[in-house]
Amino acid sequence: MLNSLVTVDPWELDPQMIFRHLPPNRCGETDVQYMKEVLEDGFGNTKDPAGMVARFETAFAKKFDVEFAISHNSGSGTMLSCLLAAGVGPGDEVIVPALTAAATAFVVIECGAVPVFADIDPETFCIDVEDVRRKITGLTKAIIPVSIYGLAPDYNALLTLASQHGFVLIEDNAQCFLGSYKGKVVGRIGKAASFSFQGSKHMTTGGDGGIVVTNEVEYARDIRKHSSQGFRTLSGRAGDNTVPRDQRQDWSFERHDRLGYNFRMSAMQAALGLAQLERLEYLVAARRYIAARYETVIREEKCHWLHPPVVPEGCTHTYWSYVCKLDERALGRDWRAFRKYFIAQGGDGLYSAWKPVHLEPIFQTMTFFGSRGRAPHFDPRYKGNVKGYHQGDCPVLEEMQKYLCQFKTSMQTKDAVDRQVEALRKTIRFYS
Ligand SMILES: Cc1ncc(COP(=O)(O)O)c(C=O)c1O
Repeated sequence: MLNSLVTVDPWELDPQMIFRHLPPNRCGETDVQYMKEVLEDGFGNTKDPAGMVARFETAFAKKFDVEFAISHNSGSGTMLSCLLAAGVGPGDEVIVPALTAAATAFVVIECGAVPVFADIDPETFCIDVEDVRRKITGLTKAIIPVSIYGLAPDYNALLTLASQHGFVLIEDNAQCFLGSYKGKVVGRIGKAASFSFQGSKHMTTGGDGGIVVTNEVEYARDIRKHSSQGFRTLSGRAGDNTVPRDQRQDWSFERHDRLGYNFRMSAMQAALGLAQLERLEYLVAARRYIAARYETVIREEKCHWLHPPVVPEGCTHTYWSYVCKLDERALGRDWRAFRKYFIAQGGDGLYSAWKPVHLEPIFQTMTFFGSRGRAPHFDPRYKGNVKGYHQGDCPVLEEMQKYLCQFKTSMQTKDAVDRQVEALRKTIRFYS
């Protein structure tokens, strides 16, 4: 068991049991029931402390055994709120992995700071601690390690660096729910942890959504304010995301003591979130089961050109995706040929890894604030050494990215799993 609040152990479920709990189209009876409750309640914007957003935030905080859970409408907004509430701004640097969704780096730019990209560990694909160490400067204000593909990075080493150098650690767990790191639930390690409910994630709030968890009362309050238009009176308490009507209707009421955006989650999203949260163990267990099936095929077929992901001792991987390294030389074919044959056998797509973020055109042109002519592209208060982003900044990822194969783990029925696994088996046999 990960903690006493996880009621079903997701690591020890049999497939019949798992898939019985997964509605094939990801929307079950409870989801519909909770959405109906919202519909019947109307869509007023009055404060409703017992409303659906409050219920979802309370349940999420309970599941992760934390004090505060602050819902957002995306897992990008969550990280921007976390950085702003931590006081990250012009002149600061924030270390992020080069293998992540661009959002992890974009939010750094959005608060006027400078992203510094760290390379990955070639075995786990997580941020490389030694490269982080090399890239720390006196301007480093925060780090956002990512639980990439569902696996936690080496948090103990990163926390040591954070405390030695006095910067904050914010977990990006967009791809990791109920994972663990050395006995700790991922989400309770950093100053705060961000989760995404975008449609491909373990659980979704209807296609988009996000949440931040933290145990720090003032930090939770500031995150809430940044996510809800800087309203002066808000707090991190569940559902406290709007100002009560009687208060805000008074002509003397001063509303805003901070800059803030509208990143609030809607009640309808929260309804879906609450229902999905209730079956989260099964949603995670399904992904772990699917990963185990792929791995079994690779081992049974003695495939020496597809290298399964490595899980360090003491971690539980939650397999947002099952990611292998393809050895093109041993296979005698390239990634594209492999993908084509896999699809021809019924494989439902095979994703590549994202381009290293620092090599994306936006980081090459650095046109962050409008036109090319609007230099300097970083805030003039920045006095650090990052002048641009280059090939060679993160050599391990740059070399490896084109050989990564992301196999889907989002199938909601056992038949769909069997089809994908058989497509992989046929592909391996064809090339062996
Ligand atoms: C690692 C990672 N970080 C951040 C995000 C951003 O989340 P969202 O799409 O909810 O804004 C995503 C997902 O898309 C992600 O996979």
